[in-house]
Amino acid sequence: MPATDQLNIVPFVSVENMMDLVLSTGTEIFLRELADYVEEDFLRWESFDKTARVASHSDDGVIELMPTSNGTLYSFKYVNGHPKNTRSGRQTVTAFGVLSNVDSGYPLLLSEMTILTALRTAATSAVVAKHLAPKGARTMAVIGNGAQSEFQALAFKSLLGIDRLRLYDIDPTATERCRRNLAELGLTIEACRSTEEAVEGADIITTVTADKQNATILTDNMIGSGVHINAVGGDCPGKTELHRDILLRSSIFVEYPPQTRVEGEIQQLPQDYPVTEIWRVISGEQVGRQSADQITLFDSVGFATEDFSALRYVHDKLRGSECFEELDLLADPDEPRDLFGMLLRRQALTAA
Ligand SMILES: NC(=O)c1ccc[n+]([C@@H]2O[C@H](COP(=O)([O-])OP(=O)(O)OC[C@H]3O[C@@H](n4cnc5c(N)ncnc54)[C@H](O)[C@@H]3O)[C@@H](O)[C@H]2O)c1
Repeated sequence: MPATDQLNIVPFVSVENMMDLVLSTGTEIFLRELADYVEEDFLRWESFDKTARVASHSDDGVIELMPTSNGTLYSFKYVNGHPKNTRSGRQTVTAFGVLSNVDSGYPLLLSEMTILTALRTAATSAVVAKHLAPKGARTMAVIGNGAQSEFQALAFKSLLGIDRLRLYDIDPTATERCRRNLAELGLTIEACRSTEEAVEGADIITTVTADKQNATILTDNMIGSGVHINAVGGDCPGKTELHRDILLRSSIFVEYPPQTRVEGEIQQLPQDYPVTEIWRVISGEQVGRQSADQITLFDSVGFATEDFSALRYVHDKLRGSECFEELDLLADPDEPRDLFGMLLRRQALTAA
């Protein structure tokens, strides 16, 4: 924790700071350490104050607030999702977040979370896949080669030993960029011309496309027995990636059912359709993969506890690091109740 006895100061991790923190750690080590925090918080799932995120939808996208607390720490993330944004040079997803001390209510950290979201989403997918993917999985198809894709690939390499990637995107320049970015990182990469071609021989299929509609990225005939599907891109009402028939053949694992039933692939199924909460598998209470021919599906939408884990990890990482700035965020009058007096003293000072 960055030490400061000035009560007005909150450590701020800018995008530049985050990049330095990730690079000085090493991206794969960062993903593995972050995955440990994500796993640790899934293991104490019941201690969290949980609520489905608060979403404000528009024709073009969504803006969401994602709060949670474990009674000691509190966090929230602001995040948007606007698939049309890349056409105007903007990101589909941007985010920032706050970690606070429940005891005083004072923020401990304000951080960029666009990069951190990509890292935490990838780390979470890999933590889940450790419990669900077929044994000895080495090949992953990645459908959708945008901002999240390289992070997903590296997390699966680092945590599961995936060393072969099969990429597909409707935009070949996205696939080429992804291939180039990962070229020197120890993966054998094949750029494919269709989703059908990409999923051929894959043990794990990651879908991470962005489209504001019920898309059908994967159809039932593409899915052979025994694969693990890591479905990341369907995360809003009316925004899904898988044909319903795939869901009916799969064992479905979710983060927080009240949120996933509204936002995930399972919005296509009845509200009481049986799904397994992933924390129960991680804690050993329920079994993940039960047989070699079972199709497992992680219906990922992203849950607040994963952002909590990410902020908690970054906060711990800042100890002894210089990857933050000191932000004068909290008013701190000499006498706590003299907030107005502070304003008057400022006026006198600036008038002098
Ligand atoms: N589950 C989570 O926790 C989580 C977290 C972050 C992002 N997401 C979601 O992941 C998705 C991807 O995010 P991103 O930041 O990488 O977006 P992005 O816009 O950077 O990339 C999306 C890519 O998908 C491609 N695409 C669109 N339709 C396709 C299709 N039919 N077939 C193949 N490719 C297609 C686009 O060409 C683009 O390259 C978004 O939908 C986002 O909301 C989910």
